[in-house]
Amino acid sequence: MLNFKNEDLCIEQVKLSDIAAEYGTSTYVYSKNQFINNFENYKKVLDAKGKGIICFACKANSNGTILKLLAGIGCGADTTSGGEIYRCLKANFNPSKIVYAGVGKTSEEIEYALKNKILMFNVESLEELDVIDNIAGKVKVKAKIAFRINPCVDPDTHSYIATGKKGTKFGIPYEDAVRAYLIAKKKKNVKILGIHSHIGSQILDIKPFKIAARKIKNIVNDLEKNGIRLEYINCGGGLGIEYTMYQKAPSPGRLISELLLVFDKDKKFIFEPGRSIIANAGYLLVKVIYRKFSCGKNFLITDAGMNDLMRPALYEAYHEIIPIRKIIGAQKVKTDVVGPICESGDFIGKDRMLPVLALGEYALVTCVGAYGAAMSSEYNSRPLLAEVLVDGSKTTLIRRRAKWEDLLLNEK
Ligand code: LLP
Repeated sequence: MLNFKNEDLCIEQVKLSDIAAEYGTSTYVYSKNQFINNFENYKKVLDAKGKGIICFACKANSNGTILKLLAGIGCGADTTSGGEIYRCLKANFNPSKIVYAGVGKTSEEIEYALKNKILMFNVESLEELDVIDNIAGKVKVKAKIAFRINPCVDPDTHSYIATGKKGTKFGIPYEDAVRAYLIAKKKKNVKILGIHSHIGSQILDIKPFKIAARKIKNIVNDLEKNGIRLEYINCGGGLGIEYTMYQKAPSPGRLISELLLVFDKDKKFIFEPGRSIIANAGYLLVKVIYRKFSCGKNFLITDAGMNDLMRPALYEAYHEIIPIRKIIGAQKVKTDVVGPICESGDFIGKDRMLPVLALGEYALVTCVGAYGAAMSSEYNSRPLLAEVLVDGSKTTLIRRRAKWEDLLLNEK
């Protein structure tokens, strides 16, 4: 939803220079219509081809306004902590559309999820199954579960975000799946509802998803032979997006269509996209606060640092950086765009060909709606950023900029 109005770069119909003037920088800015469209693209294909729920992986972005908007159009939620379940309930997600994964669910979190009647737990170990069964007994409810299965598939992505490979901490190994279900079948307070797998994130090829799906289908068949019929197949999230013009991502429609072909028609399906719903709807608007030429290198020092956007430092992730006014014919120079933090890992982009920006000019970092604000911290005692939602020509502050006083809020 980026476009130019004369010389000015806009999100939907709002000039970024107006956002900078009204809300200050650095600021996360979201295009409402972009993420609504992204969600609808998933939902319409699932509705046309089968039954099920699109559960937004709210770890990608847990801003309450964004969650509320998604909940309001029928989205479900994939959660990984009691805090995420709390946020989702506050944002009016229907509990019967909330699923809960994670290798380290605490008793307190499990009890909270049970009392709030979420759709199901994606159980990651047999010890966790025991704990869930015990707590469900105490709370006097049946815990609905799926096992998260590790299908041992290499998704060809950054090693930190590959989860379905052999040797990761996630899920129950593929070969132990049937045994786990047979154990679960005997638990008094547990109801088996489905099967789950999530092989990783930022995956640009359909192939590993299909390999994983076929392995899951084999387990489903084996379970049926053992008298266990599953209602839900949860295919996880992980579909990648195009961070650069050289990348090509499959569409959500293609992912859903191809995976549904693997399974029987009577199943219900869950998909857990995070990045492919919110990443390209989010931007980080930054200001150039200094420029520097040092040892043959040009630096632009901005008011956003690695605490505000961790992805470049953590994964050497690439995010495009563009000036917010059209600069025609300007000479471009190789530039490192960096933040104010005392670490050499504090960069937004390295060796970027950019026009020479003046002090006080603004630039936009793209595709940061997923795992941008969500992973930010107060490192270097830098207060959390403001977040602004754009809807057509309207802007709304959806998180106020934190103040220095906020840094001390919980200290005694
Ligand atoms: N389901 C489960 C169980 C997950 O663990 C995740 C992400 C998702 C769904 C959503 O995956 P997505 O559709 O967003 O790829 N911080 C990293 C990404 C970590 C992903 C963790 N799990 C990054 O900035 O790239």
